[in-house]
Amino acid sequence: MRTPIILGNWKMHKTLGEAVEFIDELKTRELPESVEAGICAPFIHLSDLVSGSKETSFGIGAENGHYEDSGAFTGEVSIASLADLGVNYVIIGHSERRQYFAETDEAVNKKILKALEKDVVPVVCVGESLEEREDGSYESLIKSQIEKAFANVTEEEASRVVVAYEPIWAIGTGRSATSKDANDMCKFIRETLHSLYNESVAEAVRIQYGGSVKPENIKEYMAEKDIDGALVGGASLEVDHFVALLEGAK
Ligand code: G3P
Repeated sequence: MRTPIILGNWKMHKTLGEAVEFIDELKTRELPESVEAGICAPFIHLSDLVSGSKETSFGIGAENGHYEDSGAFTGEVSIASLADLGVNYVIIGHSERRQYFAETDEAVNKKILKALEKDVVPVVCVGESLEEREDGSYESLIKSQIEKAFANVTEEEASRVVVAYEPIWAIGTGRSATSKDANDMCKFIRETLHSLYNESVAEAVRIQYGGSVKPENIKEYMAEKDIDGALVGGASLEVDHFVALLEGAK
């Protein structure tokens, strides 16, 4: 059985004060034990959030990280330093980073390998644009994104990776994928992992859906066989909504 996992992706939202206030409030809530929970926040907040969430049941993640441990990379933050800080997750290859910051499949792969080496859970995002959905090329695109992401990842390491299927057309648009369509793609990703590794890896990897997930629709997604959780943007910004998502996932 795979443990359901709900992660918030705050993107470029919240001041440090607002971020700390959120965590302080979340600490006072009773969270379902059967669901793994985490908040991925801007780099500048991570130190405070990691200290503020010690002895709680939820983790803290980064929204990006560099695969080199150190070096002349102005403005970057290494996955090694995130690990040192005590960060639990790192989002890799989000479509916004692929689209606006030219993140390539090769960089995604290097980041996954580094996160695994440093014992930070990589949350690797894959997903197609509306055009690719409509012209029917989405399956081959997702297959290629998965194959490239998992290059040189061993069988033992692969099970520790979390995959987030986020169709670009469903992100922040309010137009979520139907639970059946989302499940079909999560199943397709699992089959791709099966062909790359074996059944035990395919059955162990947790696959999230992301794209306009909210308290009102989380249960529909979680009822699907191949969806193990959600990566949530907008609806993770309010404590009440985030807690409702966790409740809906148990
Ligand atoms: O990574 C989460 C994300 O891209 C989905 O955003 O706001 O549609 O939940 P949102």
